[in-house]
Amino acid sequence: MKSIVILISGRGSNMQAILEADLPVRVAAVISNKPDAAGLEIARRHGVPTQVVNHRDYDDREAFDKALAAGIDTFSPDLVVLAGFMRILTTGFVHDYNGRLINIHPSLLPAFSGLNTHVRALAEGVKIHGCTAHFVTPSLDKGPIISQAAVPVLPGDTEDTLAERVLEQEHIIYPQAIRWFAEGRLSITRNGNVILQNQKSAEIALRSPWEAQ
Ligand code: GAR
Repeated sequence: MKSIVILISGRGSNMQAILEADLPVRVAAVISNKPDAAGLEIARRHGVPTQVVNHRDYDDREAFDKALAAGIDTFSPDLVVLAGFMRILTTGFVHDYNGRLINIHPSLLPAFSGLNTHVRALAEGVKIHGCTAHFVTPSLDKGPIISQAAVPVLPGDTEDTLAERVLEQEHIIYPQAIRWFAEGRLSITRNGNVILQNQKSAEIALRSPWEAQ
């Protein structure tokens, strides 16, 4: 069975969705860069080993990433899963985990990379928003897209209501992306697109909840 290490910085709801999704993977550890991340307690309750690599203990990004990699490598995971991990990783780190490092981002990339995605989506007046599961490459929030989910932006939406609608979809598509990885069904083409091998007719890498109803 493939093993994964999950990196978090805070609440850990995506991590929790992964832990509770009954995936064909062993979650070897959860590592946080923040000692007070609420997700650490959730991981412990699920019997998953936890580790803290506090970014404040290191002088620069290189030193932090080196310590983080050392922590991850004790578990020799097949896949490293960023789940609300709010640190920018160095190019060297990303290269070392090339093809086995994934992220969930709260927008339909390439729109709204970076922070405050929901506020920016509301400010732009977009009518469709969503989330993206993707492989990580050195440029921020770029990288081969595994799957996306779209949600409507509704009249009267606030940052919180929109975030909640998107998060519900994150909790569906991210575990599914990990399942596809674990099943060995994800491959990346030369031009950096992801192909889902043996796609079943019910499986589609773009989820739109209002169509599914
Ligand atoms: C999630 O919405 C995730 O997509 C986002 O942070 C939140 C973490 O929530 N990630 C990013 O913005 C990464 N750039 P969680 O800790 O409850 O999973």
